[in-house]
Amino acid sequence: MNYKVPVIPGDGIGPEIIAEGKKVLEAAADKHSFSLDWIEYLLGAEHYLKTGELVSEETLKSLGKYKAIYLGAIGDPRVKPGVLEKGVLLSMRFYFDQYVNLRPVKLLEGIWTPLKDKGPKDIDFVVVRENTEDMYIGLGGRAKSGKSHADFEVIRTLYNIKFGLDVETDSAEIGYQIGEVSREGSSRVIKYAFDLAMKRRKQLASVDKANVLSDIYGFWREVFLDVARSYPEVKYDFNFVDAITMWFVKNPEWFDVVVAPNMFGDIITDLGAMIQGGLGLAPGANLNPEGTSMFEPIHGSAPKYRGMNKVNPIATIWAGAMLLEHLGQQEASRDVITAIERNLREGKIKTYDLGGKSTTSQVGDEISRLVRSS
Ligand code: IPM
Ligand code: MN
Repeated sequence: MNYKVPVIPGDGIGPEIIAEGKKVLEAAADKHSFSLDWIEYLLGAEHYLKTGELVSEETLKSLGKYKAIYLGAIGDPRVKPGVLEKGVLLSMRFYFDQYVNLRPVKLLEGIWTPLKDKGPKDIDFVVVRENTEDMYIGLGGRAKSGKSHADFEVIRTLYNIKFGLDVETDSAEIGYQIGEVSREGSSRVIKYAFDLAMKRRKQLASVDKANVLSDIYGFWREVFLDVARSYPEVKYDFNFVDAITMWFVKNPEWFDVVVAPNMFGDIITDLGAMIQGGLGLAPGANLNPEGTSMFEPIHGSAPKYRGMNKVNPIATIWAGAMLLEHLGQQEASRDVITAIERNLREGKIKTYDLGGKSTTSQVGDEISRLVRSS
């Protein structure tokens, strides 16, 4: 069996961590008698600075022929903040309609957590982040004193929306942003979370801020309740986003599956990463179960560490394990995760963030060796 997998190393430390991810995945492929052909796409800052192009329709169409994309990181200080993140990363998430952003929060053996008296059996949940809507639709603007008008369009596979906005203000200038959740968009991701809860401990926590942003997140709750009717075995509750950050710290063992609208999901998964040992250990999957999915570490491009062979590649390797699982190579995926666990438990070859002195490539070599010898 041969799989063709597009790989986007991206910016900053992206190429270094992706090199280690590829190395480990190739070790798993050898062991399980399949092969991986990487198709490299050079998107990100260099490409943008050279050509002025973020990602072309043609590139998107070509990436769309595959089931899974392997992504390093996007973002560079030479480009205005947000240009690459929105123009490349979010463009791909939206274009491929990757409506589930799956982020496991699992403390592995041997890893230190800042939570006192909590261990691996207490920190083991999954955040299902909605990935195409909410405040992320990029719809907003600025208006100066007086009257103005703006037209906006949201184009999705599931639906389209047009907003026409007349603005009149006597403020010197305002900035505004419009968020939106749809019935179709929220119900599909909530269903995904219920299905996942059915395969785990049958508990689902929903995140919102329905007490204040009631039009958008009160609606999310209503859709959640509609979906919940089909899953009588799952115990669920509603959590305000501010409160859930407190419970993640105080009682992480309460959580099994957590489902959140896009922005709150973004915020709480950085907290999740910290309690599982840091951003160097947190993987993510952008899933379209029927289309093209994308696997990446949840951390950014860390430009200050670029080229130093210093950062932890484990988040990227773990994201690679999720990619293998998505391709249907469950055993190979399992082997990669077991090798990560062994490497961490043994605690000898580790990068600076875990208190070690090993390099990025030494960690990749060691995890590959463990995969091959398992
Ligand atoms: C993430 C990142 C992105 C997001 C940025 C880089 C656009 O923070 O994947 O969590 O906000 O989704
Ligand atoms: Mn984030």
